[in-house]
Amino acid sequence: MFYKRDVISILDFTKNDLMELFNEAEKLVEHKGRRLNILNGKILATAFFEPSTRTRLSFATAMLRLGGHVIDLSSPEISSLAKGENIADTIRMLDAYSDIIVIRHKVEGTARFAAEIAEVPVINAGDGTRHHPTQAMLDLFTIYRHQGQIDGLTVGVLGDLRYGRAATSFIYGLSIFRPKKLFLIAPEILRVRDEVKSVLEERGIQYEELSKVDQVIEELDVLYVTRIQKERFTDPTEYERVRGSYRVDKNMLKDAKENLIILHPLPRVDELGYDVDGTVHAKYFVQAYYGVPVRMALLKLILVG
Ligand code: NCD
Repeated sequence: MFYKRDVISILDFTKNDLMELFNEAEKLVEHKGRRLNILNGKILATAFFEPSTRTRLSFATAMLRLGGHVIDLSSPEISSLAKGENIADTIRMLDAYSDIIVIRHKVEGTARFAAEIAEVPVINAGDGTRHHPTQAMLDLFTIYRHQGQIDGLTVGVLGDLRYGRAATSFIYGLSIFRPKKLFLIAPEILRVRDEVKSVLEERGIQYEELSKVDQVIEELDVLYVTRIQKERFTDPTEYERVRGSYRVDKNMLKDAKENLIILHPLPRVDELGYDVDGTVHAKYFVQAYYGVPVRMALLKLILVG
């Protein structure tokens, strides 16, 4: 059930919820490019206090394709935040002007705070290092669509598991299903946080932590690659130590399963070679496209049921 709900963490949703979303999104994939009138007259407000390309634009595209409208707070430098307005007052205004708010902020918990203030539903489009639930929804949808299921798969998550909210939400999202095994692959200082491991343990998900992807590449059905979150490091020398410490390229994939799919939330920096793009494994651009039908499905289910 999504009707009138906030979307703060993927952990707030059940497998049934996600299957409902995927079924709705599946229908909308077929509608590619056609405008529907499901959300005629409704207004979506976007408030992004951190950079974004795909998330902001795919939410806007989703709303417009459903017949709705979009208002954007714009960068904090040109809104009244620059005059010292606090975020709570800004949220109150967006609440008064729109039917649904999509927010991204570097401070953890901002989306939940916004949801407490706003009467209209609030969607978390990323809060610091913690949650990015709609990214996880489209990631899981991509797997479901290309592998036919999520249960029973062996999944590798590679990269910055310490600071990456996309990786964190993806791991949480997988825990809602029954994957066979997760390989959490990261350099020592970017290992997954304890609170994430606790969730996997509570939910009985088998996982193993390791440093190198080549040790397990042959076993994987899905490999989720993420960039090092440079902007989250407090110590630049720490970043320099791990920079360039892992990279997936075509050569590494020669022993991979034929049906291995490689996902990446994007943007990529240097962790995923351009020579992978032409392989049968590369699914990250179609994954980014699914951001539109999945967010269309989500907006529809939240606003009209
Ligand atoms: C991610 C994010 O902002 O968390 N990007 C996205 O939304 N697709 C991942 C990242 O920035 O590395």
